Amino acid sequence: MPPAGYSQLESALDPVSCGTCHAQQYKDWKTALHSLAMSPGLFGQLQEMGAEAADDHQACIRCHAPLAEQGEQLRKTLARGAHPAPQRSDGVSHVHGLTCAGCHVRNRQVFGPLRRDDSAPTPEQKLPHDGWLATEAFQDSRFCIACHQFEPDGPALNGKLLENTYEEWRVSRHARENRPCQSCHMPDRRHLWRGIHDPEMVKSGLKIEASRPIVANGQVSANLQITNHGVGHAFPTYVTPRVMVEIGQESRKGKMIPESVERHLIARDVSLDLRTEKSDTRIMPDETRRYGYAKVMYPGAAALTIRIIVEPDAFYADFYRATLDDPEFRIGRKAVSEALRRAEQSPYTMFLKTIPVE
Ligand code: HEC
Ligand code: HEC
Ligand code: HEC
Ligand code: HEC
Ligand code: HEC
Repeated sequence: MPPAGYSQLESALDPVSCGTCHAQQYKDWKTALHSLAMSPGLFGQLQEMGAEAADDHQACIRCHAPLAEQGEQLRKTLARGAHPAPQRSDGVSHVHGLTCAGCHVRNRQVFGPLRRDDSAPTPEQKLPHDGWLATEAFQDSRFCIACHQFEPDGPALNGKLLENTYEEWRVSRHARENRPCQSCHMPDRRHLWRGIHDPEMVKSGLKIEASRPIVANGQVSANLQITNHGVGHAFPTYVTPRVMVEIGQESRKGKMIPESVERHLIARDVSLDLRTEKSDTRIMPDETRRYGYAKVMYPGAAALTIRIIVEPDAFYADFYRATLDDPEFRIGRKAVSEALRRAEQSPYTMFLKTIPVE
């Protein structure tokens, strides 16, 4: 229950209410995946678990929609068989995903960082929601690990945890130089959390250099170098995205000559049942990956093209396809079909360079 004397607005835990006074944070958060964490891909699986399987729900929503009130709402919604759009009158609902209160409120007490001038509220100051308890935890990478780093005994393959972002960061230059997760993902305290789904964010972490192609003895050769200089962990950190590097010859009409194309995967490629790691070609912080290209020059070749394609949801797309192939999977089909549609739309070309060859 909210403390006595709170106005209705102060008592509310839903993000729209917080946003009435914290407009910038709300505006940013709405554009971030944290606000979309109750996605159709998750919801379809929760539907399949059934309304009463609260422990099974918790195994997912402790990261995706962690407030007790959200668990309650989810159960009611599943029992009704509906997935309504967020309504302000719902209070804080599971549909809001990872909310302001999920990170900032415990037992009705608001927590936050020190002010930008390093001051903290004093008891004499009369502030809404009785001010806040200022703690340095908000500027620490460990703030993020409950959801972005598995425990040491969590699911692992080849001796590496399936979610190991904090550990990858901890042994990197970024940790030594005191650059926590927030410095890149919440620049100037903005609530943006851009990641693999954002082309500009991905580019900001990489240095990509392509040499001029050389043509000699009927062969085209070139080199490509990708350095992870500004991703604070492995590029990419999770097993879920797939990055494909394509180098090939292009005709005068701008068509890739299929036989000339060489492909290189940058990913931690695991089987759908998460039992085997097929390969791990992720680029670690400050590592440089070099790809050499050397092939006969095909008739009609006019240029060498280097293309880097990012599939942010590659693993999920495969997983949704397999789920829909399973006739036993019934109630969640509609939501998972929608998730597959979205996952198939997320790939983008992150880098494209066409260099003429003579
Ligand atoms: C009625 C307006 C109002 C509402 C509603 C409100 N806040 Fe606040 N909040 C404030 C004010 C004013 C401050 C004090 C800012 C200051 O003194 O620097 C504050 C401070 C904070 C701070 C600390 C800021 C800092 O500098 O560290 C956090 C975090 C916070 N609120 C989160 C929330 C959350 C989460 C909600 C919704 C559950 C919420 N607030 C609802 C007005 C509001
Ligand atoms: C309560 C759990 C929780 C906490 C705490 C949390 N996150 Fe997240 N985060 C998630 C979930 C769940 C998603 C995936 C949302 C989705 O796509 O469904 C996510 C997504 C992200 C993404 C987007 C990834 C992409 O694929 O583009 C970034 C970046 C991110 N979080 C960074 C952070 C940082 C930095 C912190 C610490 C300041 C943090 N998160 C704290 C649960 C959390
Ligand atoms: C330890 C925190 C954590 C737990 C527990 C967790 N997730 Fe996630 N989940 C994440 C993060 C972080 C992402 C985003 C990173 C990525 O794309 O892999 C994510 C992404 C997803 C996605 C793809 C993005 C989206 O929202 O459509 C689905 C689907 C998903 N999780 C479903 C589940 C299901 C089902 C469970 C329970 C069986 C679960 N998750 C448990 C943290 C968690
Ligand atoms: C994933 C966790 C997370 C979520 C969700 C989240 N915040 Fe924050 N918030 C943080 C962290 C971490 C900081 C401190 C960032 C820093 O100091 O670099 C912060 C800082 C703030 C501040 C202080 C900003 C400043 O400029 O001094 C306010 C106010 C705030 N959050 C309000 C909100 C509101 C309102 C929402 C929802 C619309 C929200 N937060 C959602 C983690 C979160
Ligand atoms: C030096 C800047 C920097 C730091 C520090 C940093 N990141 Fe990132 N992060 C990035 C960039 C750039 C991307 C986009 C490229 C990518 O997806 O690997 C990214 C992507 C992500 C993603 C998207 C998923 C994926 O597979 O890549 C998540 C989740 C994430 N970061 C979480 C974290 C967490 C948690 C921390 C702290 C332990 C952290 N990041 C520290 C720059 C940083």
